[in-house]
Amino acid sequence: MIDFHSHILPQIDDGAQSVEESIEMLKMLKNQGVNTVCLTPHYIAMDESPKEFLERRDEAFKALKEAIESCDEELPKLLLGAEVYYYPGICRMEEIDTLKLENTELLLLEMPMAPWSEYTIREILDLINSSNTKVVIAHIERAMGYQKRGTVERLIDSGVLMQTNASFFNMRKTRRTAFKMFNSGLIHFLGSDCHSVKHRPPRIEEAVSAIKDKFSQDAVDEFFEEQKDYFE
Ligand SMILES: [Fe+2]
Repeated sequence: MIDFHSHILPQIDDGAQSVEESIEMLKMLKNQGVNTVCLTPHYIAMDESPKEFLERRDEAFKALKEAIESCDEELPKLLLGAEVYYYPGICRMEEIDTLKLENTELLLLEMPMAPWSEYTIREILDLINSSNTKVVIAHIERAMGYQKRGTVERLIDSGVLMQTNASFFNMRKTRRTAFKMFNSGLIHFLGSDCHSVKHRPPRIEEAVSAIKDKFSQDAVDEFFEEQKDYFE
């Protein structure tokens, strides 16, 4: 099971604030059946260059790796990535490849929680066409309510992938929509989007078991099996 979206790297964003906390979160995910965790700290182009971000990310990863080495428990495999905040002009960013998830063409893109203009939508599609990028929209459930009907389907038809948070399935008020989207094949990745041990902790197992109860274990297996195509 892959956790596609997390803020576990220590002291790099509003996620884990210490190496100890990072380890604790990884242990929680391991116990929930996760074997691969994508580390996706926030990248905001207005605040820093990709180079500056990657230097900070390397530093945080180095600290985490050292702590993992002295940990007596086997922890999930880690993949370095980023949650890149959209900005007008992003499709011309030269360093875009450096922000993709390690060894993949996947770019986790966080979109504004506001109606997207036709220009914005075009730009997402340009990103796919110009740089071999497979765009994954982060927690689509947060932004989709602001869009015109059919926008999610239109983007998927053009090759955009969708990630939802575990909370989309865990919360009573959104669960029905989550199931509906899952059943229609509109969700490609699931992420805990965990930020700490206590506040926004990893709760991915709960989401997976809700999917299993609603549909079947086969549906869960198929969902994770299909993701394998994007890796390696
Ligand atoms: Fe996030």
